[in-house]
Amino acid sequence: MDLAQRYTDVGVIGAAGKMGSGIALLLCQQMTHRRLGPDGKGRRFKLTLMDVNDAALDGLQSYLASQLKRMAEKSTILLRGLYADRKDLVENGEIIDAFVADALALPRFTTDLGAMKGAHMVFEAIAENIDLKKKVYGELKNLCGPETWFFTNTSSIPISLLDREVGLGGRIVGYHFYNPPAVQKLLELITGPDTQSDLIEASKQIASDLRKKVIPANDIAGFIGNGHFIRDGLYGISELERLTGEHGFPEAAYLVNHVSQDWLIRPMGIFQLIDYVGVDVFQCILGVMNRFIDGEDLHSTLIDALMDKGVRGGQNPDGSQKDGFFRYEKGRPVAVYSLDEGKYQPLDDSWTGKLDGLLGTLPEGYVPWKGLARDPGKNEKLAAYFANLRATDTLGSSLATSYLKRSKEIGENLIKSGVAANAEDVNGVLLNGFFHLYGPINDYAADPQTVH
Ligand SMILES: NC(=O)c1ccc[n+]([C@@H]2O[C@H](COP(=O)([O-])OP(=O)(O)OC[C@H]3O[C@@H](n4cnc5c(N)ncnc54)[C@H](O)[C@@H]3O)[C@@H](O)[C@H]2O)c1
Repeated sequence: MDLAQRYTDVGVIGAAGKMGSGIALLLCQQMTHRRLGPDGKGRRFKLTLMDVNDAALDGLQSYLASQLKRMAEKSTILLRGLYADRKDLVENGEIIDAFVADALALPRFTTDLGAMKGAHMVFEAIAENIDLKKKVYGELKNLCGPETWFFTNTSSIPISLLDREVGLGGRIVGYHFYNPPAVQKLLELITGPDTQSDLIEASKQIASDLRKKVIPANDIAGFIGNGHFIRDGLYGISELERLTGEHGFPEAAYLVNHVSQDWLIRPMGIFQLIDYVGVDVFQCILGVMNRFIDGEDLHSTLIDALMDKGVRGGQNPDGSQKDGFFRYEKGRPVAVYSLDEGKYQPLDDSWTGKLDGLLGTLPEGYVPWKGLARDPGKNEKLAAYFANLRATDTLGSSLATSYLKRSKEIGENLIKSGVAANAEDVNGVLLNGFFHLYGPINDYAADPQTVH
């Protein structure tokens, strides 16, 4: 079966979730383009969107309607080409409405996994739970034909394990979109030794159809993105625990978060990022990695303690941030969790100012992440800033330099252990998936004498 044929019958499982809804949107847009294009003539297209949560499927319908309209508004030139023979469509608005109506005619919403019968490609984005994924793939294997391909959005579970234990015969790839899938450009493609070669080739083509940048990762739990993020998070946590003795927990959390955001010029501090991803998700991925990776203690008693106290992070249905290490207002941290007291302590200048003083002044050349993100001269500015950082003798610069060293070591270990092919791939994941301005494998933390 060729790819054009495969695109005619596609399923998404967990379609109403955070990731599944974005994947459903991208596929709905791509399949509609194909249906309207020269290859679509005479073919019937079916997009089956399945989720166990019926109410959330209602929300998915309105999400698709609003997002497809936005996408259509941005692609009127392409749509004019696709609707060239529709002389009745004159204004852009008419073409946009026609596209949205055509796109919304494709999906069928269901809570019945049985509806996947006949699907040529199934994209799965259900919860990150090995037993649940194995159960669902076991059912899919019996339901779908022997040619069906499976694309799992798992963040950490080795795909060879699913392949082997369910007996999928190499018909599954790891297709790791980043959140939100409709916006994020990166896609980590994970294949195992048994993955069918035509599936690997088609996976690259589909990623290109969906306008994603593919970075390949080897099938080792956590892959590149979480392989770096989880260890980077554990390093931040170890620094928090070390500094708690001297300063107290909320103070240490503030210090490490501040250094990992501002002193490292990253989009978010490390604890803010863990809150965004979810303390619960962090714990879950940690658990999977710990199970499959030998010789490394990938575990955090602090994360376990936060979870025991119900501190879970993640987002509310309206997209606002739930409480985690920090409490947020309008997306900004306004209070920090006190582990001893089990409540949030407002971030106010009376004590954060003192801590800022302890860290010292930010090195010369500092520009916040936002100010550099779109600056074409950012590489030179970063190099100058980090040279000043290395030349500064303050608590802030020493914490930041150690952080950079550890981040680089994590990146290099991902290559040594075979997860990533090279530094370019490690850096590419952090640049594209985490919006860092520089990859972890760099000379920024190096001793000035060793920099060339
Ligand atoms: N959220 C992220 O930032 C992110 C990023 C990359 C990858 N992932 C991965 O994507 C997957 C989904 O994560 P998410 O954040 O979208 O989770 P989510 O909880 O938002 O969505 C999961 C969806 O799956 C549905 N579901 C649960 N069991 C099901 C079943 N048996 N059959 C059908 N539907 C079922 C749920 O109702 C829910 O709508 C996980 O494997 C996760 O590791 C998440």
